[in-house]
Amino acid sequence: MRALVTIIALAGAAAIGACGAGGSRERDRVAQSGAAAKQPAWDPAGWRAPSLEALGTDSLASAIRRGHALVAATAESLPRFVGGNLNCTSCHLEDGRRGTAAPLTGTYARYPRYIERTGAVVSMEDRVNYCMTRSLAGSRLPNDSREMQDMLAYLAFLSRGVPMGSHLAQEGMPTMPKDVGDTTRGVEVYRTTCARCHGTDGGGMLKVPALWGPKSYSVGASMARQERAASFVRHNMPFDKPGTLTDREAYDVAAYITSKPRPDMPNKTRDWPFGGAPADVPYDTRGHRAFLPPPLLPRTNPASAIVPPPHRAVGERER
Ligand code: HEC
Ligand code: HEC
Repeated sequence: MRALVTIIALAGAAAIGACGAGGSRERDRVAQSGAAAKQPAWDPAGWRAPSLEALGTDSLASAIRRGHALVAATAESLPRFVGGNLNCTSCHLEDGRRGTAAPLTGTYARYPRYIERTGAVVSMEDRVNYCMTRSLAGSRLPNDSREMQDMLAYLAFLSRGVPMGSHLAQEGMPTMPKDVGDTTRGVEVYRTTCARCHGTDGGGMLKVPALWGPKSYSVGASMARQERAASFVRHNMPFDKPGTLTDREAYDVAAYITSKPRPDMPNKTRDWPFGGAPADVPYDTRGHRAFLPPPLLPRTNPASAIVPPPHRAVGERER
């Protein structure tokens, strides 16, 4: 397989050379085929995502760097698409590399993938747009935009060397023991442990993202679920002393945060179309009653927040 890729790349380079259109494009091809050839053998325990510093100067390397910048400074880079003050890396910590914070390492190797919430097999583009529209409470990026393709280039880079379809030890966020938080105790945890960075009104501060209100993630984000938020907080917050809260404190503060107002998510009741929503989903879906639904704030452009599931090009209604 690798040999075949190299042959195709070399054949392509030769063809371009023959037409006299060599130069930077040819260099790009050679650089890319070289990168592929250096992939280490698969060892899930020993695998580490590559470092940006090791990147060269070809077009793919530039796309990966731009993708990284978009993921780390999303709100600033895409003001027309993001209304709030979150970046992808507000949750996918350490540029998507931290194991307990929904790591983006290795994910590219698992797409296309079936997602229960959608009830369909979806592409990586759609998965990115779920976070754009739900977790950033923003608008969907066109799949064929430079920005989307650059983000994908960065995500693919974070999965270099992971064979398609394989899994890593850390995916998503660790499951918490079953519990339900208490908002009264949660207020106290928030006041003593979180407010100094996230603000007394939860709106965030310079370089610190909002936890609720119009600038925060929408009710359709996984982070708006109490158990998911508790897991994130338990393992990653407070930012300067992660791991210092108990499970109970994490649940209590998560209960408080998830009870506060946040942007609505259009079409949310169509999630989990075949049922099976997790117990802490804060809105009604098929066969599920909303768990402690928070007050919702209207979205400015709800139509732009809808990522339709893939439709059939042939238009026939097969089942
Ligand atoms: C508010 C927090 C938050 C923000 C902001 C956010 N995400 Fe996510 N993201 C999550 C959570 C939580 C998951 C689900 C992890 C799981 O499967 O449990 C997730 C999942 C993903 C996945 C799928 C991972 C997998 O293993 O299948 C991708 C890809 C992704 N996010 C990309 C992005 C990108 C790109 C952005 C910025 C445009 C972004 N996310 C912004 C919280 C966030
Ligand atoms: C020292 C400052 C600091 C403290 C204290 C802190 N955070 Fe954070 N928090 C951050 C920063 C910074 C980020 C974003 C990380 C990044 O951009 O790299 C973040 C991200 C988050 C996120 C995901 C993004 C978002 O806006 O939803 C949640 C949830 C969160 N913090 C909850 C909490 C909770 C709950 C507490 C208290 C237990 C807390 N944090 C304490 C600095 C802090």
